[in-house]
Amino acid sequence: MTLDDQAIAILRGNDRGGFTIPTRGLYPYQWNWDSAFVALGFAAFDRPRAWAEVTTVLEGQWPDGMVPSILFRRDDPDYFPGPRRWGANLGPIPSTGVSQPPVLSTAVRLLAGEDDADRLDNIFDKLLAWHNWYHTARTFDGVIATVHPWETGRDNCPDWNIGLDAMEVAPDLAPYERMDNKHVDASFRPSQAQYDRYLTIIQAGQQVGWDQARLTTEGPFLMADPNINFVLLRADRDLFTLAERLGRDQTVRNKIQGWIAKGEAASDRLWNDQLGGYAARDLHSGRFSDGFTNASALCFYAGVGAPEQRARTLQNIRRIGERVQYMLPSWDPDAQDFEPQRYWCGPIWPQMNFMIAMGLREQGEAQLADRMQSDLTRLIEASGFWECFNPVTGAGCVGSDFSWTAAMWLAWLSPSWLTRVA
Ligand code: DGY
Repeated sequence: MTLDDQAIAILRGNDRGGFTIPTRGLYPYQWNWDSAFVALGFAAFDRPRAWAEVTTVLEGQWPDGMVPSILFRRDDPDYFPGPRRWGANLGPIPSTGVSQPPVLSTAVRLLAGEDDADRLDNIFDKLLAWHNWYHTARTFDGVIATVHPWETGRDNCPDWNIGLDAMEVAPDLAPYERMDNKHVDASFRPSQAQYDRYLTIIQAGQQVGWDQARLTTEGPFLMADPNINFVLLRADRDLFTLAERLGRDQTVRNKIQGWIAKGEAASDRLWNDQLGGYAARDLHSGRFSDGFTNASALCFYAGVGAPEQRARTLQNIRRIGERVQYMLPSWDPDAQDFEPQRYWCGPIWPQMNFMIAMGLREQGEAQLADRMQSDLTRLIEASGFWECFNPVTGAGCVGSDFSWTAAMWLAWLSPSWLTRVA
């Protein structure tokens, strides 16, 4: 089977009827940002199916506008924490009580062709409401905040240690049994101490009845993530393009422009001058994380940074490029806690390379974009469609037959697709 055929077979195999699971076993539900990338993969060979993925992820939207990170359409005892542990039943489908990086509007802009006006019209208000939720319930002091490492998509990145170390594990935390380590090797996954804290935050969400503004201001964890801030800023720009295409009125366009101005201003708050890069920051103490991550490199994708900030960011990317075989690791190989096989402590992530390369190319850094693209191509050719990859050895990590990796192959890397989206 060619790699194209394998990628199509993975997406078809992970299709549960209008929505796709990331991989069998480890992740048996629909994940929010996974679906955005998956839609781009389907678009290479089945456009109606691509739109179905967009529609189904929005079906779980809460009345307050939030689109949850996971939709639990049915209870699967093989996954923990599932719907009962979250107890977050404010939306139309049982779900988690946190969101994920809002890549969807950008995926929709890439997807939408001339004949898609009706489809766009049907979902535009939902996208707008979701962005509005980030700009209200998840805004703290002008910056988009995050209340749970799982909301960032970069679950156990050492970035979050500042916030996690500062919080207490709930003394009455109900006992639990992890399922993730039953599916994959524990050396790939977050530690037990981190899990205790992830579950403590879930308990705090329940205690405020999943009132999201209260969880933001009163919750035990409050950090700002360059991934969410930059993905949202990019998505706001793309949503503005969609508003223009649909001829939405000036009030809507002014609102989105206000968000864009806010996002641009907020980016300086994430600039760690000592590191020479954008970094996660604790919003209670103001403390910066001190590692350069693949999210730091998304400033190009977001279209922010003064010339000096961009130059220093590029220096960091090049420094790291000399330290590893494959670009761009999720955590700095020169910082403490680098573990090249452990989830977000080092491995490279296909969907992150896609967004980073898109931004670099748009901003005139074609050579680095090419490396981001060819390194991932080599990894998939040598190891297959893994969730993520060891940047030093190239070995595949965590889940295999992974949907977003297959999608990135079809939408971006495969030499045989003439109608690729990016
Ligand atoms: C998991 O289960 O590891 C997920 O990443 C949480 O969203």
